[in-house]
Amino acid sequence: MAIGSRLRHIVESQQFSRAILEEVFARADEMKSQPHHFSGRLNGQLMAALFYEPSTRTRLSFEAAMLRLGGRTIGTDNAREFSSAAKGETLEDTIRIVSGYADVIVLRHYEEGAARRAAAASSVPVINAGDGPGQHPTQALLDLYTIRDELGHVDGIRIAMVGDLANGRTVRSLTYLLSKFRDIRVWFVAPPAVAMRADLKAHLDESQVPWAETEDLEAVLPQVDVVYQTRIQKERFTDEAAYQAVKGVYRIDNRVLGLMRKQAIVMHPLPRVDEIAQEVDADPRAAYFRQARNGLFVRMALLDKVLA
Ligand code: CP
Repeated sequence: MAIGSRLRHIVESQQFSRAILEEVFARADEMKSQPHHFSGRLNGQLMAALFYEPSTRTRLSFEAAMLRLGGRTIGTDNAREFSSAAKGETLEDTIRIVSGYADVIVLRHYEEGAARRAAAASSVPVINAGDGPGQHPTQALLDLYTIRDELGHVDGIRIAMVGDLANGRTVRSLTYLLSKFRDIRVWFVAPPAVAMRADLKAHLDESQVPWAETEDLEAVLPQVDVVYQTRIQKERFTDEAAYQAVKGVYRIDNRVLGLMRKQAIVMHPLPRVDEIAQEVDADPRAAYFRQARNGLFVRMALLDKVLA
């Protein structure tokens, strides 16, 4: 799974060195400034998108990225129902078959660890597009790219991760990436029922990244450069009462925005439900739609790195 100058499978954020991150981001910068310059780069290559969970951004930005690079795509939404998984086929068998048809597989699955299992069964690169509450490394790459783009640097940032941190794969993947940078401070802002898991806190300790845990968002806001808000993931709760107990716990509106630094940004992997009020969208610090657009260029750069 180690990464040299060429990427093979993309399964988790821990794979990425700072050198590779800089290479991917430099490529994404080029693709953002001259998107049409790369239009024939992946001519003749085929991407298969296997999505066992719903998606708007990840699925469509990967497809758009492949098409903009001159490649083609096949795939299935709702693969749990519309692929032979519905007849009992294992993920490994599906991947063995699809890797005989396509040059790269983009996989979203509902089980943590599914991308690693798929990579082990595949003869072509597998890109993890989210595996249950595990990781979502390409989202983390576009998040990090956005921080660099918006603030001009990553070293030295103070960031609050807010919301459903127990189930939030984007927060996990982004935190792993941030731990590779200097002088980072992280606040985990969540109710105890959806607090960050112990493994990631242990990773920050090992990486000597200072972190704190609190339920008090308003106390943290004046101290940070980035507020990374997340949705409480209803679909991951087995108990409706447990979901209702934490639903709507943190909402960013214009009053809350007033507690933030003037140069700070609000990020969100999206989709949002009600955790960021629509009135916030007009504030220049609302970076989440720019963040989602960056996904196109970062995924173009990743496909280029994997396939070109
Ligand atoms: N951020 C993200 O993964 O969005 P989708 O679920 O729409 O792909």
